[in-house]
Amino acid sequence: MRTLIKNGRVITAVDDYAADILIDGEIISIIGKSIDIEVDKIIDASGKLVIPGGIDPHTHMELPFGGTQASDDFFTGTRAAAFGGTTTIIDFAVQYKGESMISGVDNWHQKAEGKCAIDYGFHLITTDFEDGHAEQMYTLMDEGITSFKLFMAYPGVFLVDDATIFRAMSAAGERGGLICMHAENGIVINEIIKRALEQGRTAPKWHALTRPTIAEAEGVHRAIAIAEIAESPVYIVHLSSADALNKIREARDRGIPAFAETCPQYLFRNLDDYGEGFDGAKYVMTPPLREKHNNAELWKGLKMDDLQVISTDHCPFCMKEQKELGKDDFSKIPNGAPGVENRMALIYNGGVAENRISLNRFVELTSTAAAKMFGLFPRKGTIAVGSDADIVVFDPNAETPFGVDHEHMNVDYSAYEGWRVKGKVETVIQRGNVVIENGEYLGKAGDGAFLKRGECVKI
Ligand code: URP
Ligand code: ZN
Ligand code: ZN
Repeated sequence: MRTLIKNGRVITAVDDYAADILIDGEIISIIGKSIDIEVDKIIDASGKLVIPGGIDPHTHMELPFGGTQASDDFFTGTRAAAFGGTTTIIDFAVQYKGESMISGVDNWHQKAEGKCAIDYGFHLITTDFEDGHAEQMYTLMDEGITSFKLFMAYPGVFLVDDATIFRAMSAAGERGGLICMHAENGIVINEIIKRALEQGRTAPKWHALTRPTIAEAEGVHRAIAIAEIAESPVYIVHLSSADALNKIREARDRGIPAFAETCPQYLFRNLDDYGEGFDGAKYVMTPPLREKHNNAELWKGLKMDDLQVISTDHCPFCMKEQKELGKDDFSKIPNGAPGVENRMALIYNGGVAENRISLNRFVELTSTAAAKMFGLFPRKGTIAVGSDADIVVFDPNAETPFGVDHEHMNVDYSAYEGWRVKGKVETVIQRGNVVIENGEYLGKAGDGAFLKRGECVKI
């Protein structure tokens, strides 16, 4: 199958030029002016941007969490990602306490195998790191799982102590692995939650009011300090506040390899969105939404490369029967929100259309940097001869409506209900296959393949 994309404006993290792109099978084979070759399909991209498929390195499909399970499975979640212009996800497998790291990954392979609409990789959430775990880590790295998430939050579920963090970081750092850190002081936060509940404070907004930004900043500071001692890089996930960002800035100014992602919810939403009633459960995620001034500070961090990546932390739970588990107690609301489908258009609108970042930086933040950070570049994350043909034809002049009636995620609400943003994902090509065209999904479960990733932090 040969496909020709004609007359587009090709944007990568560093390029901006008019060209045609020939896709041969799964790969980009020629980029040039006025390619005139017989092909099976021509896509006219006149007036459109031609960008690398989005890479979302932080999703939780089918994650068992908070007494229930994330409502998107690997098919519905990856199909929704494709609708939104994302052609690769990196999801989080889980090694539960006492379980081997290998068996944790095997379980996630079983969940995802044959179901994904787009390509996927795994990080591993690691809850034990004792003698023998370094060997398991290296076995997994040989199998393409080269990053591991540790938690300073959720005591009794995922939280690990500083000794475990130090051991895992030392081992990962030695072989080009990367520790992704959920950085929040979960022990102190738990005490604050207990106090709030004793005082009868049970509404969703108390989820945010019991998780101060200083608890996130402390976690970021500690993660960076331990990484520095362990001589390992560190990647802070879902960074949400200016206080936490300042810890990243301080470390980077000293030349320490500290990296971080933020997510659209921390750029576009704020503490006021919780309101007083139970509807605020839609935004019960961890870290929580912050006071509004943090939004602008995070955009500044993205512009100045103190933040390198925008992921979604897509972890949807329906309001009905799932979020409702916490209707009398905010601490029982499953933590997480939908977003994998919204990211590209949201960031184009808030970033490029509203003049906060350049088009090149938009591509870098939504695709290229994640590919480099997590060992997928140059196969993914760019438009180049020899790269996978993961391409989005994006119309900068059309609009994207958000809301449950327009979105494809398997969840009963949208985090951006009623919003309409500038920019629209028009056509999505996944390894040479047109999977989204004219608002229709043309692919099938199992089109997406597991990605063996290489060494991290080639950035
Ligand atoms: O609320 C969130 N973020 N849920 C998913 C788990 C995590 O901490 O990333
Ligand atoms: Zn987390
Ligand atoms: Zn997450």
